[in-house]
This record gives sequence, C-alpha cells and structure tokens, in this order.
Amino acid sequence: MPPIRTLVLDSFLLRTVDIAGVDPKQLHALSVGVRWPHRVPDWRTLLAAGRGIAAVDEIGRAVGSAMWFPYSDGFATIGMVITSPRLQAHGAGRWLMDEVLAAAGPRAFGLNATREAHRLYQSLGFVDEATLYQRQGRALPPEDAPLPPGATLRAAEPADLDALVRLDARAFGAPRPALLAHLLAAGAGTVLARAGRIEAYALRRPFGRGQVVGPLVAACDADAIAVGRPHVEAQAGRFLRLDTRQADGPFAAFLARSGLAVFDTLTTMSLGRSWPAPAPDGPVSYALASQALN
Ligand SMILES: CC(C)(COP(=O)(O)OP(=O)(O)OC[C@H]1O[C@@H](n2cnc3c(N)ncnc32)[C@H](O)[C@@H]1OP(=O)(O)O)[C@@H](O)C(=O)NCCC(=O)NCCS
Repeated sequence: MPPIRTLVLDSFLLRTVDIAGVDPKQLHALSVGVRWPHRVPDWRTLLAAGRGIAAVDEIGRAVGSAMWFPYSDGFATIGMVITSPRLQAHGAGRWLMDEVLAAAGPRAFGLNATREAHRLYQSLGFVDEATLYQRQGRALPPEDAPLPPGATLRAAEPADLDALVRLDARAFGAPRPALLAHLLAAGAGTVLARAGRIEAYALRRPFGRGQVVGPLVAACDADAIAVGRPHVEAQAGRFLRLDTRQADGPFAAFLARSGLAVFDTLTTMSLGRSWPAPAPDGPVSYALASQALN
C-alpha cells in the first residue's frame, strides 16, 4: 500500500498594510499576474494620486490590492482592486473591498468594473451607471480636417493648469488640481481655444504598452476630435489607448478610423449616490485619465 501523503491547499494567512509602504515593483508583479498593462511608473502615478491597502502573505509578498482616490469629502473612486490568481474566488476580493470601504468612508463611491469584478461590486450594493469602452490599437495617421469654427489649437503649457482644472471640474463634477498638474507634467497636451478662452483639452502620457490619451474634455464631438487628432498623429504607427463612455457618434467613429478598436467594455458603477453631476450644458468627459482615476 503506498504511503499516505497529505497536502494543505488554499490556506493563506494574509494581513493588510498601507499600500504606500509597498514596493511598486511588487505591485507591478501583482498586476502583471492578472495581465494588466501597468508599468512601475504607472503604479507610482496611482500611488501619488490616491490611498489604499495591500494584502501581503506570510513572507511579505503583495497578493492583493485596492485603492481609493478621494476627489471631495463626499466622493471617491475605487480602483486597482486585484487579487493574485491563486487566491481568487476564496473571499479575498470581498475582504479587500470591505476594508477599503471602511477606511475611505463614509462617502459615495464610483468605479469601473471589469466583468470578473461586477458580481462582487453588485453584492456590495454598487449599481450600474454606464458602459465604459476601453479602445486601443496601433494608431493610424488621421485624415486632415479643418478646425471647428472659431477655434484655434495649440500645445498645452504649464500656465494653462488653472484653466484646465476649471474646465475639467465642470465635466467631472469635482476639481482635480493635483492630478491634472501631475498628468500635464507627465506628457503632452493640446488645448482648443475660442477668443482666447480654453474650451477643450486633451492630455497624453506614457502608459502600459504605449501611450494613453486622457483626460479629454470638450463641449462637442467636433472639438473633442480636434484636440484628440494631434495625439493620434503623434503616436501614429504605435500603440495608443483611450477609455471613453462615448458608444457611438462622430467621436467614436473618429477613434475607430484612428485604429483604436474596442478592446474591452467595463461597467461604471456607483455606491451611495450617482457620480458627481457635471455642469448642465457644460463640457463633457470624452476620455478618462485612467480606469481607476476616471
Ligand atoms: C475581481 C477580483 C478582484 C475578485 O477577487 P476574488 O478574490 O476572486 O473575490 P472573492 O473571492 O471575494 O469573490 C467575490 C465574488 O465574485 C465572484 N467571483 C470571483 N471570481 C469570479 C469570476 N472569475 N467570474 C465571476 N464571478 C467571480 C465570487 O464567486 C464572489 O461572489 P459571491 O460573493 O456572490 O460568492 C479578482 O478576480 C481579480 O483580481 N481579477 C482581475 C483584476 C480585476 O478584474 N479587478 C477588478 C477591477 S474593477
């Protein structure tokens, strides 16, 4: 008779720590493990913009994460919710979410749910708000097109920050000065002005496999295309990504012609109340800074 052997499977002792103290290289290993494209600098951007917790195992490896990004006393977004594949479906995701909601609350929350996470968030009381389209691909050189009537286009400058924050706040529903300062410095931007007043902007920075365009804020599709086009042109032949809630219409068609196909769809969800309300008849968010930041 063969000797009896024993094996204990799926027994993990985890503890939560402040994510600020975790080596971004460890967090990078965690996100690579679920096939997310974030690089170490992308994690650094997120760590600078928000707060969060990591779950670490007995030997100090990061095996889970969850972050929140406070935009006002009453509202935060949640993102970077990850559990390592060997842990999944054992309750760690729910535990991390419970910890984050307790640490960040009481306030309302918004997030963009992957298909894998949708059920988890639903069971925590989050409700569906909108669909988010993750579009990406090898950018194609855009066709020439005249600027919209009365508009001029130029590169964004550091001195534009205050104007961008005001415009962005009307579209997003809350001011994001520190985030926009960081993103403006991290890459390239374009602004569209009429009579000297900035009415649309788009920022682009390195992210994941290439570059990402976002935030992009404009009052109409024509203005959104005008500030987006220089970024597609600059990145032609290379990987470009843009996350948008525009399902169809001229802007979505422009993205399709630019080589940015829909790679994935996510569900924008809220807990507590709806997302901050954009100004009525004001500018609209055409591209997110990122899925976690919005
Ligand atoms: C989403 C994720 C964090 C869930 O973590 P987890 O440790 O598996 O979560 P839990 O074990 O606590 O499960 C939570 C719920 O989701 C369900 N679930 C877990 N994995 C699932 C899957 N692949 N498909 C469908 N449901 C799933 C569980 O059954 C559970 O439902 P229940 O509460 O009704 O029983 C994890 O799968 C993950 O890291 N995925 C990749 C990254 C990602 O998509 N993150 C979400 C960003 S919005």
